[in-house]
Amino acid sequence: MKISVIGSGNVGATAALFMAVKELAKIVLVDVVEGLPQGKALDMMQASPLSRFDNVIMGSNDYGDTAGSELVVITAGLARKPGMSRLDLLRKNATIVRSVVEEVVKYSPQAKIVMVTNPLDVMTYLAFKVSGFKREKVLGMGGVLDSSRFRYFLAEEMKVPVRETSALVIGMHSELMLPLPEHCTVSGKPIPEIISREQIDNLINRTRKAGAEIVGFLKTGSAYVAPAASIAEMAEIIVRDKKEILPASVYLQGEYGLEGICIGVPVRLGKEGVEEIIPLDLNSEEKATLHKAEAEIKEALKNLGI
Ligand code: NAI
Ligand code: 2OP
Repeated sequence: MKISVIGSGNVGATAALFMAVKELAKIVLVDVVEGLPQGKALDMMQASPLSRFDNVIMGSNDYGDTAGSELVVITAGLARKPGMSRLDLLRKNATIVRSVVEEVVKYSPQAKIVMVTNPLDVMTYLAFKVSGFKREKVLGMGGVLDSSRFRYFLAEEMKVPVRETSALVIGMHSELMLPLPEHCTVSGKPIPEIISREQIDNLINRTRKAGAEIVGFLKTGSAYVAPAASIAEMAEIIVRDKKEILPASVYLQGEYGLEGICIGVPVRLGKEGVEEIIPLDLNSEEKATLHKAEAEIKEALKNLGI
């Protein structure tokens, strides 16, 4: 069993480490920068006697080493630099993702792809189109991270252990994300029954801005530990065929009243990838948020000419 991680920067390398510690599979780290994946892989392997994992992490600049991967995680891309518009970033990352996906298809035609590069829902769509894979095989990581952030803020607010919380955040991986309070719980109770509307709104606002809050502190990069843990969670559910439900960006064909875009919805994951899209009843405000996100995603796709 092999998992390849394309892009060995902050998110890719940290995800490789989380997955190695879970002993999910042999891991191949790839990057365009020579020496970077090799150096990071060697460093992690030297931690293996202490962190007690026995499977191999290898670094490479050659896609030949990814051949036959069961799962490919794509984190390759650029972060926004001063003077670069969102559109510049969109176009540059689209060029990178397109070339990466072509290599993935060539060497691992049976793989499932987990997209991570931003803008997430647009890049997931691009991977779906360029790969020609069935929609079940191409998914984006965004909602798992947003839901984990919501749980952390909820646990902090309620002063309870995080394990007593659950949360579900769907929609676009951006400030247009859609946290669903009825599906967020503490000790099994939906939060609208136990905290005020104002407290819920504060949690939602903090979660919407959680990525930006971290960029504000780090200044030269974005979050990577919680994103990497989110990737490892999805990888574990897929590789171990756990059939758990979590949010992921997938290509929709009418579900949630949306068609022809990838966006976060609850899905059941297993060894085949997306094994079921779970329908939920949303109120009119929630539906409106999804449609606003749909318009933004479609605008980006138009800008890319896809
Ligand atoms: P980073 O800059 O640390 O790493 C990116 C890596 O991609 C670099 O090592 C770079 O050399 C590599 N790369 C660039 N072009 C490549 C190519 N053609 N082939 C292979 N590798 C290539 O960035 P970081 O922090 O790891 O973030 C990576 C991406 O993930 C960004 O787009 C970021 O916005 C996104 N992200 C998405 C999250 C989500 O929830 N979906 C969460 C966190 C980050
Ligand atoms: C985040 O939410 C940058 O998408 C990344 O932190």
